[in-house]
Amino acid sequence: MAETKPSRKVVEYPPKHKDKSAHQTIYIYWAVPEDVPHLIEIERSASELFRHIGMDSVAYDEPPSEIHLIKDSISNRILLASEDPSLESSPVAYLSMELDEDHKTVYLAQVSVDYRYARKGIGERLIDHLEAYAHRKGYETIVLTTFKDVPWNGPYYQRLGFYELDAEQLKRPEHGTVSDHLDAEKENDRINKWSRVAMRKDL
Ligand SMILES: CC(C)(COP(=O)(O)OP(=O)(O)OC[C@H]1O[C@@H](n2cnc3c(N)ncnc32)[C@H](O)[C@@H]1OP(=O)(O)O)[C@@H](O)C(=O)NCCC(=O)NCCS
Repeated sequence: MAETKPSRKVVEYPPKHKDKSAHQTIYIYWAVPEDVPHLIEIERSASELFRHIGMDSVAYDEPPSEIHLIKDSISNRILLASEDPSLESSPVAYLSMELDEDHKTVYLAQVSVDYRYARKGIGERLIDHLEAYAHRKGYETIVLTTFKDVPWNGPYYQRLGFYELDAEQLKRPEHGTVSDHLDAEKENDRINKWSRVAMRKDL
């Protein structure tokens, strides 16, 4: 007997920028543990971008562990994006998050788009989706850490409405998670050769 996939709740996003021919409808849905091999593939592919600008230690950094991704997918912390409404093809991008309910703050842990699907607005639509979800759930802020000067990091998030947090702002209670991540990154020799920053967007 043919196996039927359990149906999954999918949100459809029509092309956002009508002037960009590369943009097309995408479908966003929560990851489940069976998606983990795809997440690892996406992560490896997305990292390619860093190799092109000489940041090899970032490009070849290991993706998050399988067990970590399984746990996050079980607890609805990972969103996937696909160009295929049937979801039969592999997803092409993912986003992962940590939720700090006490401070109504979402930490955007990772956004990664398969290199072959970059610059089609998929990353932006995943972030839009996270913002709408977080707002609906009563969260007030999204925070993240990123490379300050890499074009698809600091400047990209700034374009999407995030602003950089200074040392004084980082002491605020709602910035505890992002501040801890920033401190850990400063100790990580694979990435600390390049400036890291913490950024925030108010919902
Ligand atoms: C950051 C990332 C998720 C963006 O996803 P995306 O779907 O390509 O993003 P969008 O199409 O929404 O926007 C792309 C913008 O990023 C910047 N960008 C992306 N690739 C770039 C490149 N190779 N050179 C210069 N700018 C680039 C540009 O501002 C671009 O906008 P444009 O196409 O209008 O010029 C994706 O580039 C990625 O996976 N990068 C590797 C992993 C990473 O750095 N993640 C973010 C840190 S957690």
